[in-house]
Amino acid sequence: MRVLGLSGSIRTGSLNARLLEAALARCRQAGHEADAFDVRQAEIPLYDGDLEAEHGCPAGVWSLKQAVRAADALIFASPEYNAGPTPLLKNLIDWTSRTYEEPKTGNEWAGKPALILSASPGGMGGLRAASSLRLILADVRCLVVPEQAAVGRAHQVLDESGDISDERSAAMLQKSIDALLKLASVG
Ligand SMILES: Cc1cc2nc3c(=O)[nH]c(=O)nc-3n(C[C@H](O)[C@H](O)[C@H](O)COP(=O)(O)O)c2cc1C
Repeated sequence: MRVLGLSGSIRTGSLNARLLEAALARCRQAGHEADAFDVRQAEIPLYDGDLEAEHGCPAGVWSLKQAVRAADALIFASPEYNAGPTPLLKNLIDWTSRTYEEPKTGNEWAGKPALILSASPGGMGGLRAASSLRLILADVRCLVVPEQAAVGRAHQVLDESGDISDERSAAMLQKSIDALLKLASVG
């Protein structure tokens, strides 16, 4: 299967990008193709109805839409910004839900199995962002597995190689990935 990762942070050294990479590495170990979408390179503009009316679907949005369409499963990893997912991630979700005639495309999220991850230096691991993201993804008709992993104190427990020193967090991550891959395999 093909797994597509989306990080809500493009910051150098992002804890969420690190958590996403740890999850994608586990998918690869299970024999699947797994890559993160390069959000920075896609240069996706802030959603603007005037820009859309004038130019239609921006090239970066089209590349994201194609990547989502080609994926069998999605993994989102988002920081918590004031109880919600980041505007960067919400912007990607909004653009990708839009319908265009040329090139022909609709809401690419619909029916896609998905997993929500979050990481934060705080103790709750960005749990409120994960809950908020769950509502948003339900609205665009993503099939989000109930299992999720919110990694708290992430600056201490996540290292750059994808190792997670906290056993509970590592087990939670593995369990949530297993649930995603199981759901995606029946689709
Ligand atoms: C605008 C803003 C709001 C934030 N709000 C929260 C919050 O509500 N809860 C939390 O745990 N961390 C919050 N943080 C801290 C982030 O969790 C922290 O910066 C984290 O490292 C960002 O994720 P990243 O490392 O993947 O970029 C906030 C950070 C910013 C910039």
